[in-house]
This record gives sequence, structure tokens and C-alpha cells, in this order.
Amino acid sequence: MEIINNISLLRKTISEVKESNKSIGFVPTMGSLHQGHLSLFKKSVLENDYTICSIYVNPTQFNNSQDFETYPRTNNKDVELLNSINCDLLFLPTDREMYPEDERSKDYRFTEKINLLEGEKRPGHFLGVITIVHKLFSLVQPNKAYFGEKDYQQLWIIKLFTKEFKLPIKIISCPTIRGENGLALSSRNNNLSCSEKKDAGKLFEALVFFKTELEKIKYNSSYCTPLSLINTKKNALASIKKNPLIKLDYFEVIDEENFSFANDINYDRNYRILIAAYIGEIRLIDNMSLQ
Ligand code: PAF
Repeated sequence: MEIINNISLLRKTISEVKESNKSIGFVPTMGSLHQGHLSLFKKSVLENDYTICSIYVNPTQFNNSQDFETYPRTNNKDVELLNSINCDLLFLPTDREMYPEDERSKDYRFTEKINLLEGEKRPGHFLGVITIVHKLFSLVQPNKAYFGEKDYQQLWIIKLFTKEFKLPIKIISCPTIRGENGLALSSRNNNLSCSEKKDAGKLFEALVFFKTELEKIKYNSSYCTPLSLINTKKNALASIKKNPLIKLDYFEVIDEENFSFANDINYDRNYRILIAAYIGEIRLIDNMSLQ
């Protein structure tokens, strides 16, 4: 695998790959790679002639400097892993390459959904994500780019961004990979203690409980009323609320088509339940389709 740190070399390599008519699959990451990332790479290697990974802990998407500083960085291990799955190129840029002259996020205004949920709790987060993804897409010019469903709002916004900006890139969404107790794999899990990992499993339990209860309601009716939805949420969160080590940030149902909050459920539409919570100091997110 070739490792490139600067933009001019990357441009040269990309133009050679394009000249040889190879299709490019791209997996942008912030490193600290785990099985969740691996599933994206495997798909990309299978579906494209040439797979590129980027590892860059993007400062503009962090609204909290402690979160940025403590974000796990495991580059040596990541390189070994990428070599083992036949990744062709790793782009590992410095801050100066990505943000010359201390440039910041751009002010993208294509959707107000960037201010909801993760956007509300982490102001500026999605502007930072779109800024870096746009830069990386322009450099790498992939045919397909791979993102995990674990960051569902990010995936939804990137799909919309690609459409609105008419970028000729197919966004491929890949299912969340989970650990033993259902905990969604995330680089941030590295910062959890063993007992916190156990507590974090409660997020998955709440999602499963919620989905199962809604399926029971569906069995009797094609509609779940606002009151039923409120009660189902309350019941799903009971064990989280009882646990003093978990601090819930949000638990919301959205309509997948337009990312609007759902107050009731029409079973002929597609919804998703999204959760965010602190386990001790670590903030985790997860989600589940309600189909
Ligand atoms: O999902 C991530 O790891 C990051 O948000 C991304 C897409 C690589 C942008 O920095």
C-alpha cells in the first residue's frame, strides 16, 4: 500500500489511476480503525479496482477541544490493518495540507438538518464534516464512497450534499457492526472502561426494546398514535434512566425520507430511532431502522 501525506503527490497518483480507467472506492476515516471500518474496506475492495483510505482527525468537526485531544490515534496499527485487506493507498495528510493558513469550516447552507440532533448538541459539527468531506472528495474523485450507518445523520447529510452539489459519486451506506452486547463499534469505545462498555450495551437494549414494542403495536394497527409513541419511548428508556452512569442526550424517531421528527408512526413509511448518551465522560451515538 502506498502512503501519501501531501496533496500534490495525491493528485498525481489519482490522475494516473484515472488514466488507467480504474474505478476508485474511497473510505474516509479518522483512524483508530475497527471491524466496522473493515466492513467498509472489504466492500470497497470488492466493488472497485482501486481502494483509497484517508485517515485524518478533522479538527473543525470537534466542538470540544478535549474530545479532539483524546480522540484515539493508532496510525501504526491502522497501517498494518490496511495492508492486510489490500487497500491500495492511504492518504494521511497533516493539518497544514488540509487547512492551509488556519482555514476553518465553510458555511454550507444546503439543509437546516445540520442543526438538529448531533448538529444541535455539537454546534458546527456538520459544517466541519462537510468541509473536510468536500475537500477529500475533490482530491480523491472517487466513483463510490463508503460510510457507516452508525453515524446515520452524517450519512443522511452527506447523501443530500452529494445530490445537491451534483457530485458524480455514489454514496454507499454500510450496516453498523456490533460487539458482544450489541454495542455499536466506534473508535470512541477505546476510551471506555470494561464496566462502562457493559453500561453502553444499554443503548442497544433500548433501541431493540423500542423496535420490538412498535412491532407489537403494528400487529394490531397500521398506525401508532403520538401517545403510544411517547409511552413506548418512556418504557424503552426506563433502565437507562435508572442508571446514574448514563446521561441521555436524545432519543428521537425520524422519518428517513426527510429527516423530520416523527410524533406518530404510519407503518407504510420508513423511520429510524436515534440515540445519544454519555457513558461517564464518553459520548456515544447509535440508531436502528424501524422497518
Ligand atoms: O465518520 C468519520 O469518521 C468522519 O466524520 C469523516 C467522515 C471521516 C469526516 O472527518
